[in-house]
Amino acid sequence: MKTTLIKEILVSEPDGRTVTIYGWVRTKRETKNLVFVQINDGSCFASIQATFDRDNGLPAEIENELKKITTGASVQITGKLVPSPASGQAVEVNASEVTVLGEAPAETYPLQKKNHSLEFLREIAHLRPRTNTFGAVARMRSQMAFAIHSFYQERGFNYVHTPIITASDCEGAGEMFQVTTLDLERIARDGAAAIAKGDTGVDFSKDFFGKPANLTVSGQLEAETYAMALSRVYTFGPTFRAENSNTTRHLAEFWMVEPEVAFHDLHANMDLAEDFVKYLMKWALEKCAEDMKFFDERIQPGLIKTLTEVANADFARVTYTDAMVELEKNAAAFEFKPFWGCDLQSEHERYLTEKVYKRPVMLYNYPKDIKAFYMKLNEDGKTVRAVDVLVPGLGELIGGSEREENLEKLEKRITDMGLKIEDYWWYLDLRRFGSVPHAGFGLGFERLLLYITGMGNIRDVIPYPRAPKLADF
Ligand code: 4AD
Ligand code: MG
Repeated sequence: MKTTLIKEILVSEPDGRTVTIYGWVRTKRETKNLVFVQINDGSCFASIQATFDRDNGLPAEIENELKKITTGASVQITGKLVPSPASGQAVEVNASEVTVLGEAPAETYPLQKKNHSLEFLREIAHLRPRTNTFGAVARMRSQMAFAIHSFYQERGFNYVHTPIITASDCEGAGEMFQVTTLDLERIARDGAAAIAKGDTGVDFSKDFFGKPANLTVSGQLEAETYAMALSRVYTFGPTFRAENSNTTRHLAEFWMVEPEVAFHDLHANMDLAEDFVKYLMKWALEKCAEDMKFFDERIQPGLIKTLTEVANADFARVTYTDAMVELEKNAAAFEFKPFWGCDLQSEHERYLTEKVYKRPVMLYNYPKDIKAFYMKLNEDGKTVRAVDVLVPGLGELIGGSEREENLEKLEKRITDMGLKIEDYWWYLDLRRFGSVPHAGFGLGFERLLLYITGMGNIRDVIPYPRAPKLADF
C-alpha cells in the first residue's frame, strides 16, 4: 500500500482528481441524503471530511461498509478531491469507494466522541495518541527533538551517544537505578549460602557481571570527555532518577539534552542556554502553528502570546545572593522561609519569575553545598559557577555550570562531598591532560514540552511515563 498523508491532501488543489485516504474515523454524521465521515491519520491536527451522496442511491456494498463505521474504525476511502462547502476546511473527498479495514465496536472502544479526562487517558496510554491532545503532544515532541538537533548541528556541535548503563554517578546524589544481570544461578547459590549462615540479605550491588552498574542520571561526565576532544558536543537521550517524587514535574525516566563546550565560561554558557530556549520557542511558534493554536485555545489560553514575548525578551541574569535579597523581602509570604544557603523551593522560583522579574531568570553563583561536585568554585570559596534557568509557571528548566578544571580543587571537592576519588580517575584525567575551561548544561526535554504546550502534568508529555505506581505498559 502506498499511501498519501492527509496533511498533504489537505493542502493540495481541489481539482477533482481521484485520491485515496487512509485513517481512523473521528465522527460519522448522517442526514437522509448525505453521510459525512471525518478521518484523521495523525499526520496533522486536522481531519479530512469524506462525503457520501445518497441522492442517486448508494450501492448496497457501500451502505454495508458505512454501517460498520463507528468512531475509531480504520478506513480506506477513495473519491474525488473537491472544494468543501463546509466552513473551516478547504477541501473534502466526494467519496465513491469505502473499505472498513478494522472495526472499533462502540460498546468496547474506550475513546468516544466526548472529551475524556487526562487521568482517564493515562490509563490507556496505548490508545491516547489517537486523541487531539495527545496527537498534538506527540507531534510537538518529534518537532522539538528535530529543533534541538538543528540548533546544535547549525552551530558545529557533534552529537555524542553517552552510555545508558554506567558505573559512575554524575550528580553524586545516589539517586540511581541499579542494573543487574539477574544471574539466577548466582542468586540461588549466594542466597542459599547466606541463609545457611543466618544472613538476612544478599548483596547484589556488584551484579553487572561482577561489577556495580546503574542507569545513567546524566550523560554529562562522558560528554565532557568528548568536549575535551571535539570542542563542542551535545548528548540527547534518556536519563533515569530513582527519586520517589510524585509531582507533576518529575519522572523516573526522562530525556535530557546536554551540550558541553570547551573554552567556555559561565557567561558564555548562559548565552548559549538563552539562545537555545528562544530558538526552540520560535521553532514551535513558526513551524508547529496548527498544533500550537490548539494548545493556545484549549490547553492554556494566552500561551502563544507568552511564548512570543519570552522568545523576544532578554532573560534576567541574577546571582543567587541577589535573588535571596528579593526573597527575604517577601519572607513572610512563603511556607518555607528562604535563607542564604537553602535550595530554592518551587514557591521561591515562581515568585522570582512571576512576581519579581516577570520573565525567565538565569540564577547563577549558587552556594557550593547545594550543588554537585564538578562545578567550578568561585574566588569567594563559598559559591560555585552554577546556573539554573527558571521559567514562569514551571520553575527549573535547565541546570548547568562551568566545570572545575583544576585537578587539586576538583579532587578536594570530590573528597569533601564524601565521594571516592578512585571512582572518578578517568574524569580526573581530563584535568591531568590538556585541561581547559569548559561549561555545559542539561535541559529536561519533558519540562520543555510542558512549557511549550502548556500541559500541566509531565506524565502527559511522554508516551509511556515512568514514575512511581507504574502502569501495565
Ligand atoms: O539539574 P540537573 O540534575 O542537572 C544535571 O543532570 C547536569 N548533569 C546537567 C548538565 O550540566 N549537563 O538536571 C537537568 C535538568 C533539570 O533542569 C530538569 O529540567 C531536568 O533535567 N530534570 C528532570 N526532568 C524530569 N524529571 C526529573 N526527575 C528530572 N530531574 C531533572
Ligand atoms: Mg538541577
